[in-house]
Amino acid sequence: MDLTGNKVTASGDSDAPVPAVGGGRTHQVSTSIEYASNAGVLRQAPAANHGVGTATAGSGGDQATSAGSHPDKINIKQVRPNNVLKKYWDKRYSLFNKYDRGIQLDAESFYSVCPEILSYHIAQRCKGKVAMDPFCGAGGNIIQLARFYTKVIAIDKDPEKIKMAIHNSKIYGVEKHIIFIVGDFFKLANRFKADVIVTSPPWGGPNYSKKKNYTLRNMCQDQGHDGFDIFELARKIAPNIVLHLPKNIYLGECQSLANSFNDKLQIEKNFMNNKLDSISAFFGDFY
Ligand SMILES: C[S@@+](CC[C@H](N)C(=O)[O-])C[C@H]1O[C@@H](n2cnc3c(N)ncnc32)[C@H](O)[C@@H]1O
Repeated sequence: MDLTGNKVTASGDSDAPVPAVGGGRTHQVSTSIEYASNAGVLRQAPAANHGVGTATAGSGGDQATSAGSHPDKINIKQVRPNNVLKKYWDKRYSLFNKYDRGIQLDAESFYSVCPEILSYHIAQRCKGKVAMDPFCGAGGNIIQLARFYTKVIAIDKDPEKIKMAIHNSKIYGVEKHIIFIVGDFFKLANRFKADVIVTSPPWGGPNYSKKKNYTLRNMCQDQGHDGFDIFELARKIAPNIVLHLPKNIYLGECQSLANSFNDKLQIEKNFMNNKLDSISAFFGDFY
């Protein structure tokens, strides 16, 4: 499907579910997503496809916050904050197509949000009713998950990120499907069950790209954890996991993680404007 006049190919059509690839083998497919950075070029992906019912809050985090009214204002005046590099500012509409509606991002989020079209692509491949992003940031992944899922559990240890995620999810009208929790995933993990975990764990800032071979060991090092810990905890919560990873990740590590998923692993290479942007690793069963 062409969302934009730009080419969007994601293992086929971005609208239609991507065929599940049979279990027991490892597959590599390529996602090619192109978008322009100016307003109005990237159109919103197709209509919501929620499951049944509404999410209920109260799943025992440090603080659980339910979302309320819809902020209905349009950001007419846009000024690049001093602490945001122009190259990140120029991509704001690819992060959130509705940026003009008043999307809130802090400096870190400008380079760490999973772009909307990619978040959408990942979300529409997932099955089940309950999804979770234990590192939800300003809401890139959870907002798209909430278009398909009855209940999305969203955790971030930074209260400001959760405030932004609540606000941003209201702009997309999906806040009722999300349970927002401020807390440390490593401490809260054993309280949850979900059908799928979709997450873009902290990569360690923009310098990740300078490493020749990024390893899961580089993730959350400052917290005394790593990507293997994240995967191990995620595995106990959900039978299906999607990790959004740096483009220079050592793929052999994903292969070894797939052992606990009967080798059900699909790697998607995400190309933005013909440039390799990132990798998505799908462990388990997906459309
Ligand atoms: C790459 S960002 C997530 C971006 C998000 N997927 C999106 O698309 O907007 C990683 C987030 O993990 C959060 N984080 C880091 N350590 C955490 C922890 N131990 N528990 C929960 N959140 C954590 C950070 O505050 C940051 O917002």
